[in-house]
Amino acid sequence: MREGTANIVRREDYLAPAYWIRTVDLTFDLDAAKTIVASKLFIERNLEQMEQPLRLHGEDLNLLRVLVDGQSVSFRHEDGMLVIDAPQQSAFTLEIRNTVAPEKNTQLSGLYASGSGLFTQCEAEGFRRITYFLDRPDVMAVYTVTLRGDKQKYPVLLSNGNLLEQGDLDNGRHFAKWHDPFRKPSYLFALVAADLVAREQRVRSRSGRDHLLQVFVKRGDLEKTEHAMNSLVASMIWDEHRFNLPLDLERFMIVAVDDFNMGAMENKGLNIFNTKYVLASAATATDADFDGIESVVGHEYFHNWTGNRITCQDWFQLSLKEGLTVFRDQEFSMDMAGSASARAVRRIGDVRSLRERQFPEDAGPMSHPVRPDAYQAIDNFYTATVYEKGSEVVRVIHTLVGQQGFAAGMALYFQRHDGFAVTCDDFAQAMADANPYSPLAHNLDVFKRWYSQAGTPRLTARGEYNAANATFTLYLSQHNPALPGQNDKLPQLLPVAVGLLARDGTALPLQLAGEDHAVGTDRVLVMTEAQHTFTFVNVQADCVPSLLRGFSAPVVLDDGLTDADLLVLMAHDTDAFNRWEAGQRLALNRIRAALNSDAPAALDDAFIEAMRAVLNDTRLDPAFKELALLLPSEVYVADQVTGIDPQRLHSVREAMVDQLATALHAEWEAAFAANQVRAGYKPDAVQSGQRALANLALTMLVRHASLTGDTVWPGRAYQRFKDASNMTDRLGALEALVNSHSELAQPALDRFHALFRHEALVLDKFFMLQGRAPEKDGRVFARIKQLMQHPDFTLTNPNRARSLLFALTAGNPAAFHRTDAAGYVFWADMVITLDTLNPQLASRFARALDRWTNLAEPYRSAAREAIARVSAKADLSSDTREIIDRALA
Ligand code: PHE
Ligand code: ZN
Repeated sequence: MREGTANIVRREDYLAPAYWIRTVDLTFDLDAAKTIVASKLFIERNLEQMEQPLRLHGEDLNLLRVLVDGQSVSFRHEDGMLVIDAPQQSAFTLEIRNTVAPEKNTQLSGLYASGSGLFTQCEAEGFRRITYFLDRPDVMAVYTVTLRGDKQKYPVLLSNGNLLEQGDLDNGRHFAKWHDPFRKPSYLFALVAADLVAREQRVRSRSGRDHLLQVFVKRGDLEKTEHAMNSLVASMIWDEHRFNLPLDLERFMIVAVDDFNMGAMENKGLNIFNTKYVLASAATATDADFDGIESVVGHEYFHNWTGNRITCQDWFQLSLKEGLTVFRDQEFSMDMAGSASARAVRRIGDVRSLRERQFPEDAGPMSHPVRPDAYQAIDNFYTATVYEKGSEVVRVIHTLVGQQGFAAGMALYFQRHDGFAVTCDDFAQAMADANPYSPLAHNLDVFKRWYSQAGTPRLTARGEYNAANATFTLYLSQHNPALPGQNDKLPQLLPVAVGLLARDGTALPLQLAGEDHAVGTDRVLVMTEAQHTFTFVNVQADCVPSLLRGFSAPVVLDDGLTDADLLVLMAHDTDAFNRWEAGQRLALNRIRAALNSDAPAALDDAFIEAMRAVLNDTRLDPAFKELALLLPSEVYVADQVTGIDPQRLHSVREAMVDQLATALHAEWEAAFAANQVRAGYKPDAVQSGQRALANLALTMLVRHASLTGDTVWPGRAYQRFKDASNMTDRLGALEALVNSHSELAQPALDRFHALFRHEALVLDKFFMLQGRAPEKDGRVFARIKQLMQHPDFTLTNPNRARSLLFALTAGNPAAFHRTDAAGYVFWADMVITLDTLNPQLASRFARALDRWTNLAEPYRSAAREAIARVSAKADLSSDTREIIDRALA
């Protein structure tokens, strides 16, 4: 929708609808050029609301006729809505006939064409692009849907629920009629009409019911659906086991589509997925891709309860379903990972992504609470804050009430609200009521500040050991930074998981003053105020506090620990997350120091020896070693520093990586040799950890070769690239060559392209890999611009557009932030171009300059100029307009 004036929706303005839609009967005559939609709605006036005209949402529709109880009525269009004067009866039937043009729908919201098929995407406000409706999540109805279309073009006709009937029609057409017995909001409606094939599996749930699971893909892709199907079955078992939530449908369908704005969509009984999260084979997908499929299949499946059975009252409550469902998929993935170490590796990955995506968001112009208060375009609020921070907030509850208490809270939540559209407050209340003696129940109002306050809390900790009294006193204080529109912020509820380590690494028993005995070596302190003091008694040795174990709250921690303290944690902490974190902190301190000095960056021996010790430690899993050996990313560091110079940061970090490549050469060789997987390919935690470490080692070895001029390791990498039996190894070897700008990179890339030119998802990798290669003398940026002209590149497929554009802006700061501003000029051009095609994609891309005020000169002024140029475009979509306005505010 294009509109000149800002149209802001506010949470405080929420009013229940003036009408309820009880049943929906839709008939589609499907055609890519022109689809006819006939809608018959049974509507009741909401007697609790003042009598008022019926106002229906509608966007890009061509209206043919409107009947109330079979009679034509007068109607008008007002503010983009269809307005019908209040019918006399309090209950009536409304019939609407309209047409839409799927093949012209490049926004991919509503009914659109992808390849030769037709697909829908209705969340958040896409249903109004199909027909006129009360397109809001608190209006829930029972749907019956008839699809009619050409049998050859569209042999498969799907919608939500159960298939009632199907059969042939005249002129080579056929039909299918579907009925969904569950009341649902319009955003969960879906239809698919396409030439697809399905992998099918019948399963019996614990309750004894039989279900049909189907994964629909294009012909030829069937053998790439095994992992998705296995993940679906595993999700089903897990949700029944962990939360007692069984599958409530006879049939559960997943459909893969090439063109999709997001990862996937949880439409009731008919999930629609980006192909990226369905298709995988050892030859075409990496270990990370396999993990992504497992977690997204889980995520969408878990929405069937958290999202669909209980949905959101309004879009401000989005995190009610998304934060909770991300939490559930993260727990699922951790349970699937197996060992404690594999769980920690998952947790580290989740926290890394929170810090790289959500922390900067919360410090920039798009900062918003987990439950936002206002928006211009709701599509802009499918954010890391609503999803990932929302999940951390659910995890805070989990930490406060424990796994059993949490399960009890979930049970009460469903007992109270099943079948309804509710709020974040309702969820927190159910959790508190199910756990009346928990710190959550005692401090529910303090807890709920997580929903209302934006920004990342800062937690400061200082410890003091008193040998004479054998006490260790911990002073904790929190600070919640002011943000525009949020000045006087109150303390939040922070669970701080702690342990104390003696300097020899022994875990000390934890006994707080006033307690008569120690309670283990690991416990949770609860902060509800700005400052707390905790005194541990009977502490027999000086110690190092290990704080915020497992990242027990989404905060920035300043614990004041010295290098010596961090080295103790890195070597001995029983909490794997904090072992990793200690190493990252040591590295961050060094990067910071180098940024503040003009001298060439150099790592000290203590740090290098600590890294060597990690690589040599036979008790550590390869997956953990790989994470520990990676220096904090440029994206993360940039968020931790004010007035960042991305070029200086890049050269500092690159110099340090070079040093690790050189100083640990022997260890890298050993790690590469020791981590060759001989068994058949399995994307499990053990094998993928070995491959990850072998790939990192190879990258380091080829990097080292590029410094010395040696040709042995580049040659080996090329050989490995050619001979690889799976995509993880092949891509790892290719990346080692590309990232070190080896002469063998181009021949390898050519070969890679030739091998996979018919595999869309692998071509995405081909572009992405080149887009995120470490910048060197502007070559990577030049290559990206060249690749825009590649015959396989297109902006109309979101995955492909992202593969190059987002690789540059989100994954390659040094290629993007240039002293000559060429990166920003390119960005502005692309935002403007994309906005005419696909506003959701454009506004996401626009966010690449969110943090422009944190840049040093000359970047800062140049970025501002580029943003201003986009802002000067009069006809931006409301999506992009909102991002640009906020950036300049
Ligand atoms: N609700 C989807 C999910 O989180 C995401 C989505 C939002 C997809 C909007 C499409 C459009 O699973
Ligand atoms: Zn979701």
